[in-house]
Amino acid sequence: MARIPKETVDQIIHHADIVEVVGDFVSLKKKGQNMWACCPFHHEKSPSFSVAPAKGLYKCFGCGKAGGVVQFIMDVEGTSYVEALKYLAKKYGIDVEEEEKTPEQQLAQNDKDSQFIVSNWAKDHYHNLLLNTEEGQGIGLSYLRQRGLNQTTIKTFELGYSLDQWDDLMKTAEKAGYERKYLEKTGLVITKEDDQGHDTGRRYDRFRGRVMFPIHNVSGRVIGFGARTLKPNDKTAKYLNSPESEIYHKSDVLYGLYQGRQAIRTEEQCYLVEGYLDVLSLHQGDIKNVVASSGTSLTEGQIRLIKRYTDNVTVLYDGDAAGIRASLRGIDMLLEGGLNVRVVLFPDGDDPDSYIRKVGDQRFKEHLEGASQDFIQFKTDLVSREAAQDPVKKAEAIREVLQSIAKVPDPIKRQVFLQQTSQAFSIDEQVLITEYNKLVRNASGKATGGNANSGGSGLGSAQTGGQPSGSGAAPRPAPRPMSPEEEAEALMYGASPEDLAGGGDALTASPREDLDPVPNAQQTCEREVVRLLLLYSPQPLAPEVSVAQYLLQQLDDTPFKTGIYGDLLHLCREELEQGRWPEVRTLIQHSRSDIRSLVAELATEKYELSPNWTTHQIYVPRELDQLQVACDNAILRLNKVNVEQELAVRLEALRHPLDDDTMMEHLQTIRLLKQMDNQLASMLGTVIPRGAQ
Ligand code: CTP
Ligand code: MN
Repeated sequence: MARIPKETVDQIIHHADIVEVVGDFVSLKKKGQNMWACCPFHHEKSPSFSVAPAKGLYKCFGCGKAGGVVQFIMDVEGTSYVEALKYLAKKYGIDVEEEEKTPEQQLAQNDKDSQFIVSNWAKDHYHNLLLNTEEGQGIGLSYLRQRGLNQTTIKTFELGYSLDQWDDLMKTAEKAGYERKYLEKTGLVITKEDDQGHDTGRRYDRFRGRVMFPIHNVSGRVIGFGARTLKPNDKTAKYLNSPESEIYHKSDVLYGLYQGRQAIRTEEQCYLVEGYLDVLSLHQGDIKNVVASSGTSLTEGQIRLIKRYTDNVTVLYDGDAAGIRASLRGIDMLLEGGLNVRVVLFPDGDDPDSYIRKVGDQRFKEHLEGASQDFIQFKTDLVSREAAQDPVKKAEAIREVLQSIAKVPDPIKRQVFLQQTSQAFSIDEQVLITEYNKLVRNASGKATGGNANSGGSGLGSAQTGGQPSGSGAAPRPAPRPMSPEEEAEALMYGASPEDLAGGGDALTASPREDLDPVPNAQQTCEREVVRLLLLYSPQPLAPEVSVAQYLLQQLDDTPFKTGIYGDLLHLCREELEQGRWPEVRTLIQHSRSDIRSLVAELATEKYELSPNWTTHQIYVPRELDQLQVACDNAILRLNKVNVEQELAVRLEALRHPLDDDTMMEHLQTIRLLKQMDNQLASMLGTVIPRGAQ
C-alpha cells in the first residue's frame, strides 16, 4: 500500500519553502517582511495575497484563503492531502514511497514512468521537427500559421509535426536509447498483426505527416497526442488520437486544462468547447479559461475535473440544431455534477475557432457575454419552439425540461427553475410540480442507483410552502468513493470522519459546526488558550516552566466544550508529549482542513481583545512581555466562564418544582459556585502585569 511515513512527511514539510512553492504559481514581490501577489484563488487587480516566509504561511486578505505549503498545493492544484505531499516531495527530490512498494508495484511504477518519459521525448521531437525541419516548416508550421496561430500559442501548447515517413519516430527513438516496448505501450508505434492476431513483426509510426497536439495531464506531463491530417482528401480520419494506455485515460482528460486551470479558477468560469483548434484560438485571444472534450461525449471524470476548479461552466456550441440536440445529454450530466451551466450559441456554420477569427477577440468576448443563456432557459426555448402550438408536443417538451431540472442537486435551484419553467410554458406551477414528482418517482422506481438524485428530488406541493419533501436533505452529487488505500492514508494522518465521508478530497473545509456565528464567552476563552499555546509554547514563564507546560497543566481537568478548540488543545498536548513544542509550522500541516484553517487564523489574525473583556488589557501591545499575565488571564477567564455556566444551569433548575433534598443540594452548590465566581473575579482583578507593579 502506498503510504507516506510520518518521517517523510516531516522531511517534506521541513524542506518545502513557502516562497518557492507559492512562487511557482504567482509572482511574489517583497514588501516589508512579507511577500505579496495577486491572489491565485480569486480575481483581483491589486495584490491582497501575502506570504509570510518566517511563519511558513500564506493568507489572502481578499478571499480569506490561508494555510501552509501543503494547503497551498491542495488549494491551487485541487488535490488531496496525500497528493499535495507527493507534489512537494517531487519538487524537493524526496523519495516518498519506494520502500513501501512491493516489487511488482515498483516495476509498474517504473513502467509508467518510462511511458511518461518517452511521451515527453516524442513531444520534444515533434516540436523540433515542426520548427526546425524543411518539411515541418513548409507543411506543418505554415498550416498552423494559416489557421492564425502565433509563435506563443505554438510554444505554450508545445505543438509539433510528424514527418510523412513510416518510421522516423521509431528509428530516432531507438537511436536515442528508448525501448520499443514503451513506444508500443503509448501507441506511438503500431504493431502490425495478421488476420489471426499474430504479430507479423512489422512496426510503424502511428502518426505520419500530421500536426501534433500533445495532450497534458493537470500536472503538465504529456500523456498522449491528437494529430490532424494536412491532406485535403485523406481517406483516414481527420484526427488520429493516441489509444488508451496506462498513462492516458481519455475519460479523465480535458484538452487545455493544464494551460487554462489558473484562469478557470480566477475567472470562476470554464468554457467548454469541442476541438483542439477552438481551445488554441480562444487561448490566443486571451480567453484562457477554456477546455475541450476533444470530440468525445463528456464523461463523469471530465466533469469532476472541471468541478475541481470552478462551479460554473459555459458550453460553446456550433449553431446547427442537430448538433445541439446531440449534446443535450452531456449537458444534463453537467447539471447532475452540480455545476451551474450556461450555453452560448454561434451563428450557423461557425464554431468558436472560426467565429473568433471572423469577428476578432473583442467582439467575440462581447458575444460570450451577450449571447450566454442559462441552460434550462435555453432548453425551454429550444423545445418549446420545436413544439410550437402542438399540445401533445408541448407536453413532451415540458417533460424534457423537467428531466433536466431533476438532475440539479440543489433543491433551491430546482425550485427556482420550476418557477421559471411554469412561467415560460404558462402552466400553473402546482400542475408542473405534480408532473415533476410523477417523473421523479417513475425514474427512481426504474433507477438502478445511477442517478444520485433518485428519490431525493421530489418537491412538496405549493400549499405546503413548496419546500423540498422526501428525505428532506439536499441530495448531493455522489462523491467519489475513497479507495481503501486513500482511506487508510487519510486515517493515518488523523483525518476526521467528516473528511472521509466527504469523499476523500479534503478540499472543502468542513464547516465548523460547533462554532456559533457570534462566538460566546466560552468559545472566546477557549480560543485564547489555544492561541497562546500555539504562538508562545516554548516561551519561559517561571524558571523551568514554559507557556505550553503551564497552560496544559493548569487546564488538565478543564474539558473544552468547543470541539475544534478541544481537538487543537489535544493535538498540542500530544506534540508536547512527543517532546516537540506545539507550533504553527507543524500544526498548519495537519490533515484536517478545519484544524489547518483554524491554525492559520490564529497565527495571522491581528489580535484584539474582545470588548467584553474589561480588565487589564495592557498586555496586548507587547504580548511577549506579558505572557504570564496573558496565560493567567486566559485560564482564570475560562474557569470563570465555566463556573458561570454551571451556575446558570443550577439557577435554572431551581425554577422547577424540586423535592426538599435536591433543592438543598442545589442551593449548596450554588453558594459554592458563587464563591468561586467572586474569587475568580477578584483574582482577575489582581492579576497585574509585572511591568506595571
Ligand atoms: N475529433 C477526433 N477525431 C475525428 C474528428 C474529430 O478526435 N476524426 C475530435 C478532435 O479533438 C477535434 C474535435 O473532435 O478537435 C472536433 O472535431 P471537428 O469539429 O471536426 O474538428 P476541429 O477541431 O474543428 O478541427 P478543424 O477546425 O481543424 O477542422
Ligand atoms: Mn474547426
